[in-house]
Amino acid sequence: MDTEIRPCSSLSVFLLFLLLSSLNIQHCGATDSISLGQSVSGNQTIVSKEGNFELGFFTPGNSRNYYIGIWYKTIPVRTVIWVANRATPISNTSSAELKISEDGKLVILNSSKIPVWSSNSTPSTSNSTVAVLLDTGNLVIRNGSNTTIWQSFDHPTDTWMPGGWLGVNKITGEYQSTTSWENPENPSPGPFAQSMDPDGSNQFVLLWNGSETYWSSGLWNGQYFTAVPGTRESTPFNFTFVDNKQRKYATYTILDSSFITRCVIDSSGLLRQWYWLNSTQKWQTVFTQPLAQCDVYSLCGAFGICDQKSLNICRCSHGFEPASLKEWEFNVWNSGCVRKTSLRCSNKSSTGGEGDRFVEMTNMRLPANPQNLTVGSAKDCERACLNSCSCTAYAYANGCSIWTGDLRNLQQLYDGDSGAGTLHLRLAASDFSASRTSHKFVIDLTLSVIGGTIGILCVLVGLIWAFQRRKRIRMAKQVEGSLIQFTYGDLQRVTKNFSEKLGGGGFGSVFKGTLIDSTEVAVKRLEGLRQGEKQFRTEVSTLAAIQHVNLVHLRGFCTEGSKRLLVYEYMSGGSLDSLLFQNKSTVLDWKTRYQIILGIARGLAYLHEKCRECIIHCDIKPDNILLDKDFCAKVADFGMAKLIGRDFSRVLTTMRGTVGYLAPEWISGLPITSKVDVYSFGMMLFELVSGKRNASHSADGSKIFYPSWAATKVVEGDIFSLLDHGFKGAADLEELTRVCRVACWCIQDSEADRPTMGQVVQILEGVLEVSMPPLPRVLQLLTEDQSQIRDDLSSTEYKDPLDQSQDFYP
Ligand SMILES: *[C@@H]1O[C@H](CO)[C@@H](O)[C@H](O)[C@H]1NC(C)=O
Ligand SMILES: *[C@@H]1O[C@H](CO)[C@@H](O)[C@H](O)[C@H]1NC(C)=O
Ligand SMILES: *[C@@H]1O[C@H](CO)[C@@H](O)[C@H](O)[C@H]1NC(C)=O
Ligand SMILES: *[C@@H]1O[C@H](CO)[C@@H](O)[C@H](O)[C@H]1NC(C)=O
Ligand SMILES: *[C@@H]1O[C@H](CO)[C@@H](O)[C@H](O)[C@H]1NC(C)=O
Ligand SMILES: *[C@@H]1O[C@H](CO)[C@@H](O)[C@H](O)[C@H]1NC(C)=O
Ligand SMILES: *[C@@H]1O[C@H](CO)[C@@H](O)[C@H](O)[C@H]1NC(C)=O
Ligand SMILES: *[C@@H]1O[C@H](CO)[C@@H](O)[C@H](O)[C@H]1NC(C)=O
Ligand SMILES: *[C@@H]1O[C@H](CO)[C@@H](O)[C@H](O)[C@H]1NC(C)=O
Ligand SMILES: *[C@@H]1O[C@H](CO)[C@@H](O)[C@H](O)[C@H]1NC(C)=O
Ligand SMILES: *[C@@H]1O[C@H](CO)[C@@H](O)[C@H](O)[C@H]1NC(C)=O
Repeated sequence: MDTEIRPCSSLSVFLLFLLLSSLNIQHCGATDSISLGQSVSGNQTIVSKEGNFELGFFTPGNSRNYYIGIWYKTIPVRTVIWVANRATPISNTSSAELKISEDGKLVILNSSKIPVWSSNSTPSTSNSTVAVLLDTGNLVIRNGSNTTIWQSFDHPTDTWMPGGWLGVNKITGEYQSTTSWENPENPSPGPFAQSMDPDGSNQFVLLWNGSETYWSSGLWNGQYFTAVPGTRESTPFNFTFVDNKQRKYATYTILDSSFITRCVIDSSGLLRQWYWLNSTQKWQTVFTQPLAQCDVYSLCGAFGICDQKSLNICRCSHGFEPASLKEWEFNVWNSGCVRKTSLRCSNKSSTGGEGDRFVEMTNMRLPANPQNLTVGSAKDCERACLNSCSCTAYAYANGCSIWTGDLRNLQQLYDGDSGAGTLHLRLAASDFSASRTSHKFVIDLTLSVIGGTIGILCVLVGLIWAFQRRKRIRMAKQVEGSLIQFTYGDLQRVTKNFSEKLGGGGFGSVFKGTLIDSTEVAVKRLEGLRQGEKQFRTEVSTLAAIQHVNLVHLRGFCTEGSKRLLVYEYMSGGSLDSLLFQNKSTVLDWKTRYQIILGIARGLAYLHEKCRECIIHCDIKPDNILLDKDFCAKVADFGMAKLIGRDFSRVLTTMRGTVGYLAPEWISGLPITSKVDVYSFGMMLFELVSGKRNASHSADGSKIFYPSWAATKVVEGDIFSLLDHGFKGAADLEELTRVCRVACWCIQDSEADRPTMGQVVQILEGVLEVSMPPLPRVLQLLTEDQSQIRDDLSSTEYKDPLDQSQDFYP
């Protein structure tokens, strides 16, 4: 019974157990049960038999309230998995207690001996009714004939434990669902819940306020929930779905019992699977849904705006402020925003004073369920809203929509996002003007201080902007001015008649050269170009205008007859390819590699998202990543697709070796988007992590295509086995985990599943969490049946990726 004496041999524990049971000692330190007449009070606890879980009073964070809860006994971070009186806290534990009442129910009594919580279980008059804390974390009440009459797993709070279940009792209609805590210091039920679909289908959904579905698990297909990778076979979880006459529920178990894990719906509406990482003594997320936080319905509460690209994901609309700064500090925003000034709700004309006005919010995801009015113009739409006191906003696009009451689920969108609209939000006129009349001096003072600070910031930002703009204009001129047009003769001289070759690829060879002012350059002689001179010039000047620290800068060009050459800045560090594979050393330690990865990601994100027109690189591989003397990574050869034009994909697919980096779209003939770069980037990440070519790996003698093996390891959580053996484990686990998961997400079969490079950057910077990726299918196909892909590829040049030849890449 006494689990504190665990270090003894099992025999002595057994003997001790016999001794203690025979003596029937009531007051021994930790027991696993509460019987009639016993109670838990103050700092007393009960501990499950094997010592996995503990039950007692606790206070979350800095709260002053006490709750009865169950937490892990084996880990140092207090992690509560169940709360009894979540909505009815106790303010003073001095004589509060948890006990079995006379009618066999479990009750919590406050200091005045008034019950504040009860298990509401079937009455049982037997004096051998007992509440037992099990080693699964389940608290059960057993009646005199040892029948379980109540259990905490039937009433989960926010945590779904292994061995626990979520579902619905078909007879009583009662749901077993998890509901988020209000905030990390208050376990009372918040607005978010994970539940069996109330529509009756065999799937789980995440709900806001019991009604708005913002994520679903996909239907149970007999083996897993179709949208939840974590339920597939290759994971350490074993999900089971049961549908019988009484109940319909899902449960999961852990195949490796030493694995400590839990599934929680957290206060910000995200569903996360956590596992305890012994090595860091921290909880680690292995699965998060929804992936985009702004997909959580009403994440930012009423009048809050969700911005996926901002560091502070939630902000208040103009004229509003957080309703609870304390909750916002916890990164829990569902309390939303409140008006700084209440609406006058009057027509300008009728009162003579100032009425309400509208602030224009562009590129917004509009709230759902508007009222549609049939009015002729935007002006009429505005007037219609103004005339109704409850109207808070309107939008005019293909008709007039107005909204009444709180606006929820607003999201800041960006150019090119679908579903963006312009919302006109109603505000008191005084929120527009700088001067405010308020009787509250203190508030006024704070406001003016804040206002002043913001004002100064605005001026500063303005100045910086103006300065940068001027700089940019100056630079732009420089660009145009500094993009040198060479003659072929010039370049022959510069490169000493093309004598020092730096490398070659599908588009031509690269030579080293030295300009007159002794700056070193790399000259690329393009081959197979059929573009006219005018178009070439246009493309080249576009490319020259693209400047980013992680992109190789184009300095000049040459076009003479059929000759086309490009002159780039020279990168003394050489290509990633040579550093990683050919030097056979660990020149690049983990920190450097991480910086390189981040650099490449930033360069690509810039190409994809920040340039005037999206530039898809199409040929990301280690050969095309160059390093300067400080090992700062720069992406080379971007824009080739535009330069080469229609022949590009032919060149690419007939090029030997690049195939290893090619996204399935190239082969299947689907349209090419920037996600093909994401795919190649992912493939390259595995090489950066392992320090070996993807195609030259083999595990235990049998040849396999490395990324598919690696992806399996990532999904299994066995990250360290992927790391370059030269490091002997010297890498930051968190960074390594991020990189490996990102890699695995990047090589997903469907481009929609892959992240954007912008998201990749955010993940690598630690701004965005990355969940456990599913296993890409095509990769498995590649290992299982390469013939199919080979048939699909018309190229005769295609080489088996398993072929361990030296010249796998050009
Ligand atoms: C429990 O509380 C008592 C007094 O209330 C205190 O003396 C004792 O140290 C506490 N025990 C622990 C383990 O905190
Ligand atoms: C709790 O109650 C006891 C007696 O009922 C009292 O002495 C003590 O001051 C109370 N503590 C708090 C924090 O109110
Ligand atoms: C105990 O609970 C009752 C009912 O909620 C309440 O009226 C009473 O004030 C509570 N007593 C204390 C000491 O909190
Ligand atoms: C309680 O249990 C004892 C035996 O442990 C028995 O003698 C007694 O009659 C029981 N009392 C009631 C009220 O059931
Ligand atoms: C225990 O509960 C079961 C099922 O509700 C019931 O059949 C049995 O009679 C109960 N036993 C006692 C001693 O109350
Ligand atoms: C009561 O049932 C549990 C499991 O259902 C079993 O482990 C235990 O031995 C039983 N106790 C008695 C006294 O029968
Ligand atoms: C939440 O749901 C309840 C009942 O379903 C409803 O009365 C309430 O208006 C909803 N709250 C909001 C903010 O929509
Ligand atoms: C998964 O659980 C089910 C039911 O609990 C069991 O039949 C099956 O063998 C388990 N699978 C594995 C791989 O352990
Ligand atoms: C976790 O680490 C502790 C020591 O740090 C060790 O005793 C324990 O066995 C480890 N548990 C697992 C599951 O590896
Ligand atoms: C209002 O119009 C939108 C499209 O503009 C439409 O989706 C929606 O169903 C309409 N609502 C009503 C109540 O007609
Ligand atoms: C505002 O004026 C319109 C007519 O211009 C009138 O119909 C409406 O009732 C007025 N609303 C209020 C709140 O006075």
